[in-house]
Amino acid sequence: MSKTSAAAEPKVAIAIMAAGKGTRLKSQLPKVLHEVGGKPLLAHVTAAAVRVVPANDIFAIIGHEAERVRSAVADTGVNFVLQSEQRGTGHALMVAREALSAYDHVIVLSGDAPQITPQTIARLLNFHLDERAAMTLLSADFAQPTGYGRVIRKSPRSAEVREIVEEKSTRPAQKKIKEVNAGFYVFAVPQLLANIGKLSTANPHAEYYLTDMAGTLRKAGERVVAYKTENSSEVLGANTRRELSLIDHQMRMRKCQQLMADGVTIFYPATCVIDNDVEIARDSVIEPFVQILGKTSIAKGCRIRSYSVIHDSQIGSNVLIRNGCILEEARIAQNAVLGPYSHLRPGSEIGAGAHVGNFVETKKIKLGEGSKANHLTYLGDAEIGAGVNIGAGTITCNYDGVNKHTTIIEDGVFIGSDSTLVAPVRVGKGAYVGAASCITHDVPEDALAIGRAQQVVKAGWASEKRASRKPK
Ligand code: UD1
Ligand code: CA
Repeated sequence: MSKTSAAAEPKVAIAIMAAGKGTRLKSQLPKVLHEVGGKPLLAHVTAAAVRVVPANDIFAIIGHEAERVRSAVADTGVNFVLQSEQRGTGHALMVAREALSAYDHVIVLSGDAPQITPQTIARLLNFHLDERAAMTLLSADFAQPTGYGRVIRKSPRSAEVREIVEEKSTRPAQKKIKEVNAGFYVFAVPQLLANIGKLSTANPHAEYYLTDMAGTLRKAGERVVAYKTENSSEVLGANTRRELSLIDHQMRMRKCQQLMADGVTIFYPATCVIDNDVEIARDSVIEPFVQILGKTSIAKGCRIRSYSVIHDSQIGSNVLIRNGCILEEARIAQNAVLGPYSHLRPGSEIGAGAHVGNFVETKKIKLGEGSKANHLTYLGDAEIGAGVNIGAGTITCNYDGVNKHTTIIEDGVFIGSDSTLVAPVRVGKGAYVGAASCITHDVPEDALAIGRAQQVVKAGWASEKRASRKPK
């Protein structure tokens, strides 16, 4: 619309129906909090909604486990309407009456259909405005329409809809109709509010069906039309665990295809689990059976070998993550090498070109540029400088049973194998710690610290022992 007509632009709200229990999932968790592509169903729908109207004009209708649902998407800034008793999709809109009364049109989204795109929502709205309809519903042709409401058009070519028939109420001939109601609508608010009170619960579920608004508005002489989307997978609802897994699979395949189109190599994408919000830059290589989750970003030229699981981590360029590493909330600078089998727990910051090797566990540490901890080590609550060598089997004793303490290892230090560093303790720049030392006091710069029992050698002891044991 041109700027001069801005004053005449209709006020549009979005209502997201998210109050249902999700009986068919047989779950403690409310339906809209079940995850696909690594985040709750409702988070996907909300993310699409905020790209169509400002968060302030979005109303999530919540009910079952309302507080849990609210906190899952509260960060988006959307509003919430409480439907404390869930008496159907029509009832969901009834409880939102007051919130919606300030608007000209309301777009209604199903909180359990996560693949909807902002483009389709916007097209639905434009179609509704162009058609000057009281109600516009989004439809799609499904090869297997069972379970969905069917769209009964006035005539096959007409945009106008006579009614929507829910699966349980379909007559045999209607069951063959492939055009389904997707569960996304636009209503002109005055017509919606003037007629929604006419809905009844005279149906097999004894619920107020929002779908009945099609027939109700038509009978009231209002215009009801359908806009069919070509992209039917966009409107799939997740009502069962099977549908959840199908949608999750579609979403992840699309994610892999998009990453590959952007220059990432993914071997056997069907074996990889890559969440929707993950970013991977070009020329990185993802080997089979890798999981990359949450808000992880991977810069260019990295290689992630099989069986690694990376959660909410930032990885710089040209990093090699060998097989079987587990990373949670870690930051890895460029050219670092991890694994095989390293476990980087939250707050691990690995410097450029540093090495963390097999069976090394880290937590809340900084490992400086070029430093190495290659074998069988625990490093927790530690600040480790650049060019440090941590010998095999080194352990920072960071916990005294009550509090955690910090170990500081300055630049260029050499920690001999099998050392224990009892925190709080500091090893000064350039110092050496002899193998198998237990370090309980600070070590000055450039010193050598040895904290172990003196070796005793008893010459000939073993042969005497063997001789004394010979049978008589
Ligand atoms: C609904 C439609 C059906 C359509 C399908 C598309 C109705 C009666 N039927 O069926 O025509 O083909 O979606 O996916 O609308 N909800 C509430 N409050 C309630 C009940 C439900 O907020 O009282 C929410 C649910 O949490 C869910 C959404 O509304 O996110 C849809 O409800 P659901 O029970 O999944 O409807 P369907 O049986 O899938
Ligand atoms: Ca549904």
